[in-house]
Amino acid sequence: MTTRQHKIGSGFGAASTAAEVLAGIDLTGTLALVTGGYSGIGLETTRVLAGAGAHVVVPARRRASAEEALSGIGGVEVDELDLADLDSVRAFADRFLASGRRIDTVIASAGIMAAPETRVGPGWEAQFATNHLGHFALVNRLWPAIADGARIVMVSSRGHHFSGIRWEDPQFTHGYDKWLAYGQAKTANVLFAVHLDALAKDRVRAFALHPGRIMTPLMRHLDAQELRDAGILSEDGTTIVGPSKTVEQGAATQVWAATSPLLAGMGGVYLDDCDVAEPAPAVDPRTGVRERTGICDYAIDPEQAARLWTLSTELTKEDAFA
Ligand SMILES: NC(=O)c1ccc[n+]([C@@H]2O[C@H](COP(=O)([O-])OP(=O)(O)OC[C@H]3O[C@@H](n4cnc5c(N)ncnc54)[C@H](OP(=O)(O)O)[C@@H]3O)[C@@H](O)[C@H]2O)c1
Repeated sequence: MTTRQHKIGSGFGAASTAAEVLAGIDLTGTLALVTGGYSGIGLETTRVLAGAGAHVVVPARRRASAEEALSGIGGVEVDELDLADLDSVRAFADRFLASGRRIDTVIASAGIMAAPETRVGPGWEAQFATNHLGHFALVNRLWPAIADGARIVMVSSRGHHFSGIRWEDPQFTHGYDKWLAYGQAKTANVLFAVHLDALAKDRVRAFALHPGRIMTPLMRHLDAQELRDAGILSEDGTTIVGPSKTVEQGAATQVWAATSPLLAGMGGVYLDDCDVAEPAPAVDPRTGVRERTGICDYAIDPEQAARLWTLSTELTKEDAFA
């Protein structure tokens, strides 16, 4: 099988920062929507996009915190959005549509990781609902405002290696596991980009990506012992074990996905380190383990992407392409 998942030689890499990938790119007159754009790598994304001249809309679950985090950055507008609440998603989208403006870039950076079992809406598992279903409904609802030539950027994770879509029980009605739930949700982010790109590519392109490993509030649901046990933090709890990035580096791949001229004519691919990612290595037959790098086949499978779209439409009742 041929794959488009191969590096294209962007000239950028793991150490590149969001400001570096944007150097020389003028975003004056464009509008970007950045979910989660007031914390972690989303905040840095907002900062550099606004610095390059974009008007950035940041819909926030905690409006006052967002306004505080973004104070001092010009060209930014805060609104309200809880991705775990479809009424909130629809209300935000409808407010935006009523403004009559066009969106040139969506960066879906909001997310939660390894949360304890939580049910939202009609009993949905919270990581699937927040990370995937909320963004699915948001983009579909906003579709009339998405400009020709726009890019939709889904911030996924190498955590997609933890799980494909659990077709028999996507809501974890039996036996919740917080890491499998995160993995499923992050696989869903990639499959969403794959099918959205297939549907929209004459007009709009979609990408998914792994940003790297960055110390941010994303780890809030894990205590120090769990972070050590999962091999994420050092024994003293101060540093990430293994390769890690600063927030400035962590925001680079999503900013590159949103703006790089090198990606013109491409879409439906998964990126990391400011380039197209390679396929994941095969499972080692001796250990039965797969090294967690690159993109797993199941996360870019067009049939699974179409099937997830159908499921997501059934659940959210949103589909801009119906
Ligand atoms: N950091 C890493 O090492 C890493 C690695 C791989 C992938 N990622 C991905 O990168 C993305 C950004 O993560 P980050 O590290 O920047 O984490 P972060 O600092 O925790 O930012 C996540 C953002 O998502 C928002 N959010 C959470 N639930 C929401 C909801 N129901 N409605 C609206 N917004 C909501 C948070 O808002 P509140 O602050 O109000 O909760 C926050 O602004 C995530 O999708 C994550 O999966 C991160």
